[in-house]
Amino acid sequence: MNSNKMKAVVRSKYGPPDILKIETVEKPIPKDHEVLIRVYATTVNRTDCAILWGKPFIMKFFTGLFKPNDPIPGTDFAGRIEAVGKNVKSFKVGEKVWGFDDNGLSSHAQYMTLSENKAMTTFPDHITYEQAAASLEGAHYAYNFINKVKLKPGQKVLVNGATGAIGSALVQQLKFFGASVTAVCNTKNVALIQSLGADRVIDYTQEDFTAIADQKYHYIFDAVGKSSFAQCKRLLHPGGVYASSELGAMAQNPVLALITPILGKKKVKFPIPLDKKESLLFIKNLTEEGEFKPVIDRKYSLEKVVEAYQYVASGQKTGNVILTMEEA
Ligand SMILES: NC(=O)c1ccc[n+]([C@@H]2O[C@H](COP(=O)([O-])OP(=O)(O)OC[C@H]3O[C@@H](n4cnc5c(N)ncnc54)[C@H](OP(=O)(O)O)[C@@H]3O)[C@@H](O)[C@H]2O)c1
Repeated sequence: MNSNKMKAVVRSKYGPPDILKIETVEKPIPKDHEVLIRVYATTVNRTDCAILWGKPFIMKFFTGLFKPNDPIPGTDFAGRIEAVGKNVKSFKVGEKVWGFDDNGLSSHAQYMTLSENKAMTTFPDHITYEQAAASLEGAHYAYNFINKVKLKPGQKVLVNGATGAIGSALVQQLKFFGASVTAVCNTKNVALIQSLGADRVIDYTQEDFTAIADQKYHYIFDAVGKSSFAQCKRLLHPGGVYASSELGAMAQNPVLALITPILGKKKVKFPIPLDKKESLLFIKNLTEEGEFKPVIDRKYSLEKVVEAYQYVASGQKTGNVILTMEEA
């Protein structure tokens, strides 16, 4: 392939996965403060699906009101720096880097450019590009559940949806902070979730966690958005917090986050993710300490991107789904 060209996933409108095409496009050129990255692995995650469909609608204020601002999707990456702009101070050619931005990075391509000031850092030598890519988006959202509360060692936390990218990272991060974790998952993933350190596992095909009678929790984190505050309130200690990764069936969760602190002792928090750099440095530290291992479900080549999106959109992936770009 001409060295000024690259393969990329492209789309020109919002819609389902089959609007995605693989095309040969111009390789981006880094501006003075940017680096050029050869992407080796990226994920297809739930944020990518939301950006693909343009749903919920509010997302379009960030990604393009009538059509996507960026024709190339992708929100995270792990790769190697191939060139640096003349003002770049923090990165060198040849360094292995990882990063993400949930508003879009155009990382579903062989090459991408990124400002050195964005959420990007070098990653530990002992992990692969695939492991690095799988440690980003879900782990970032997981950390945003934890940094919205004042978690203390020994406190009891229930995680629903413990097998997703967010849930599987959340269980590990909660254990790192010394919490006692009850994780809710499907029968097929009980052993996996135990291996991530959960103290108690509830198989949702056998037992409804909202009906348990022998335990109260300081925090209930629904990482798959299948429950409601009304269902879970009974399970919370006074002062306890419920948080969900979804808006809720009636988009009630952000509203409850505003009114429950005024109305009573049990609160809702909405985990809006804010500081991406802080999350990235936390994830890097955890990975270096050997305290976090991403769960990888399936890997697809770039050419199979439509299948990858269809699988992720099914809501049944376990952990992370990788797109690999080893072939130049
Ligand atoms: N707030 C945000 O900005 C934001 C950003 C990204 C994602 N999200 C949302 O966060 C959620 C999780 O995303 P994700 O990527 O971590 O995972 P995901 O791909 O949505 O998978 C969630 C996991 O939940 C499990 N699950 C499905 N139905 C369940 C149920 N009824 N009860 C308990 N678990 C169930 C599934 O596994 P098993 O059934 O096999 O156990 C699956 O592994 C999604 O709803 C997504 O839309 C929100």
